[in-house]
Amino acid sequence: MKKNIILIGFMGVGKGTTARAFAKKYNVYNIDTDDLIESKENKEVKKIFEKKGEAYFRACEQQTADWIEKCVKGTLISCGGGFYKVNNLKKLGTVVLLDASFEWIHNRLKTAKNAEAKLAKRPLFSKEKEAKKLYKERENAYRKLADVVVDVENFTLDEQIAFIAKKCKV
Ligand code: S3P
Repeated sequence: MKKNIILIGFMGVGKGTTARAFAKKYNVYNIDTDDLIESKENKEVKKIFEKKGEAYFRACEQQTADWIEKCVKGTLISCGGGFYKVNNLKKLGTVVLLDASFEWIHNRLKTAKNAEAKLAKRPLFSKEKEAKKLYKERENAYRKLADVVVDVENFTLDEQIAFIAKKCKV
């Protein structure tokens, strides 16, 4: 795989799950922008929001995007839900959107085995009404940026990763 695959989509849509399954099946490395920021800042995303604020976190995301553009090749990159706002997203690789309705995502998070932990680590998902508003604000922007759109509601995980591999010629 020469070009990076940039996996975007709303919080809780399953970017991490899909990325890990893809990495295993196609023998590529997967890195996650939230993990990169957490290790560089030596703080969990939730704590960065609490202690330094959202604007600081967004600046970390831009710094991460700049590093990826310069240094990362042939890698699957799963992105935090707001990472699409960086000014060089399209330069980072093929942009793949995991797409699902807000209701489906909300249900996925609520019914997950570790639902509490999944919600607790996402400061912007703490209030359902606010999260839905954010979803509405973002859905068109996500679609506009995407080179490939994956309908995760109607495909199994295996089907999703096969579809991404085909579209990205992996
Ligand atoms: C965010 C999504 C989170 C994380 C941060 C902000 C967002 O990542 O980057 O809490 O703005 O949508 P996930 O999409 O992995 O939950």
